[in-house]
Amino acid sequence: MSLNSSKKPVIAVVGAGPGIGEAVARRFNAEGFVVALLARTEEKLRTMAQGIDSDYGKNTAKYYITDLRVEESVISSFKKIREELGPVQVLVYNAGARRVNGRKILDTTSEEFENFTKINLFGAFWSTKCVLPDMLAAEKGTIFFTGATGALRGAPGLSSFSPGKFGLRALCQIITREYQPQGIHAAFIVVDSPVDGKLIGGVRRRQWEREGAKEKLEDLDAYLLQPADLAQTYWFLHTQPQSAWSHEIDVRPQKEGMYSRL
Ligand SMILES: NC(=O)c1ccc[n+]([C@@H]2O[C@H](COP(=O)([O-])OP(=O)(O)OC[C@H]3O[C@@H](n4cnc5c(N)ncnc54)[C@H](OP(=O)(O)O)[C@@H]3O)[C@@H](O)[C@H]2O)c1
Repeated sequence: MSLNSSKKPVIAVVGAGPGIGEAVARRFNAEGFVVALLARTEEKLRTMAQGIDSDYGKNTAKYYITDLRVEESVISSFKKIREELGPVQVLVYNAGARRVNGRKILDTTSEEFENFTKINLFGAFWSTKCVLPDMLAAEKGTIFFTGATGALRGAPGLSSFSPGKFGLRALCQIITREYQPQGIHAAFIVVDSPVDGKLIGGVRRRQWEREGAKEKLEDLDAYLLQPADLAQTYWFLHTQPQSAWSHEIDVRPQKEGMYSRL
């Protein structure tokens, strides 16, 4: 616990990028948590950790370079987190992999199917196995999986994405059935909308710019999910009273068109 001498509660954000990952980290930092940020790209992680430290205090964020497709990499990062920060109280599995422009099954390679499914599902199984023993010993712990519309229904072009997300949803339900009696609160967050970031939300935004869709660009929060707003939902779920735990919640902006297609 060398880097967490004041023994702050620990949240691990697995799949920490500038969108939902960082927003959730910061929401919990604001409540006194220290955060372990896990992803592959060191430069991005360093910038994120430095930004959090400068806003919330030295050693509030520590990063761990991890490839979630590799079990040993996941185990090794969680071992370091335990040594440096202490046991994880909140696990947020946020990594996801999909194509922005989907491909049909016959155009999707087995390699992509395997790689994406490892990120969408296997990494969550391995991460959960790493944190559960300490959570069970403490008789409390929170496990959140970031979901997507593709976890609820299969859509054309998403064969390398949806099966993993469907599985992730099942894994979340199984954690509840197996470990909730021992104090573990697991919840699946269905993000049913593009997030306002570089990828999916960015594609939408650029499309609206090309089309001159002024009413959307001037009212973005009604059309694109804002990571900081979604982070409130994670905090809300974590702080739910014991008598009223949610296990799944769906979230979308006011005017998101996907709603009608669910
Ligand atoms: N963005 C959307 O429009 C949208 C919509 C619905 C649902 N979601 C869900 O939201 C979650 C992502 O949130 P976000 O889009 O805002 O992204 P984010 O939090 O900004 O970043 C997620 C991070 O996951 C990391 N990651 C991906 N593969 C990894 C791997 N193999 N090992 C380690 N880290 C890995 C990536 O960092 P590295 O590349 O550095 O590893 C990436 O920066 C996903 O579960 C996704 O399915 C997103």
